[in-house]
Amino acid sequence: MYRINRSRSLEMLGERLGSSFLLAPAIHDLLKTRRSLDVLEVGFGYGHVMLELAWLFREHEVRFHGVDKRLNVANREELRDIARDFNLIPQSDLERFTLPSIYSYDATSMHFEDESIDFVYSAFVVRFIERKEKFIEEVCRILRPGGRAVIHIGGAYWDYPYGKIIDNRRLTNYLNRFVLKYKDELIPLPIYMRLFEGNTFNFKFAESPHCILLIQKTASGKLNLNLDYNEKLSMQGRKLPLRNRKGEIKGGFRSVYEVRGKYYDALFNRELLTIEYIKHSRKTQLH
Ligand SMILES: C[S@@+](CC[C@H](N)C(=O)[O-])C[C@H]1O[C@@H](n2cnc3c(N)ncnc32)[C@H](O)[C@@H]1O
Repeated sequence: MYRINRSRSLEMLGERLGSSFLLAPAIHDLLKTRRSLDVLEVGFGYGHVMLELAWLFREHEVRFHGVDKRLNVANREELRDIARDFNLIPQSDLERFTLPSIYSYDATSMHFEDESIDFVYSAFVVRFIERKEKFIEEVCRILRPGGRAVIHIGGAYWDYPYGKIIDNRRLTNYLNRFVLKYKDELIPLPIYMRLFEGNTFNFKFAESPHCILLIQKTASGKLNLNLDYNEKLSMQGRKLPLRNRKGEIKGGFRSVYEVRGKYYDALFNRELLTIEYIKHSRKTQLH
């Protein structure tokens, strides 16, 4: 079946992306804190993972939602055909199975109300999104306090150190689709994001070669990353071209942002960028 070759399963996500993408245990954990949940997948493709989860949690009060810019199905009912093609749900249960709700649009602006979703996940999608900062802000807006998100932003070698840009076009040594800079200095994304945690968010990056952002919303509020989009330096990866360590050209979209002077200063004032960190960065950059 053509679809089967082009869609990842729940198991494959765990294998490819590691323990932060063990989605079923994460949903089980949230169910310990609340009886009813709203779960959203961004960029669900053929809906394989979303349908598997919906089946696994069929006895619980968990509503599944999916957003994708380009739907692979003509309507929601067609998800039933996909569930059948993938053998995800026994034939006898297929007709009365509650399907996820699906929407077709760009996930940088979503229709969900503020604080209406408990868990958001997204795999192999953000690399294609042009305005990555808007997407992250949007996820933070729709999460309920106590909610979580697991967002796969890109592949290996994304974690460039603090320091001077490599050159005026490539900016970083290797494949990187989300780059922050202040003038000609690269600002590491994980460090910059810590500026905006406050009492409302906790941002962590998974211990994985992949760039996986783990968001925990601890209190009511919104996120504004205060980044200025650099239109000139942002472009399709293939145009750069963007290469990984093996020299292979990779696709996706390289988004570049300027950090404002006030926040650059705050990184030092709040000791998020320290002399020790800078020394360590220089060493790693030499390798
Ligand atoms: C490579 S597929 C990944 C599908 C699925 N998550 C998987 O891992 O198999 C990328 C998906 O992201 C969707 N996508 C790309 N940009 C998007 C955007 N800005 N908003 C919502 N969906 C987007 C595409 O339509 C496509 O279905």
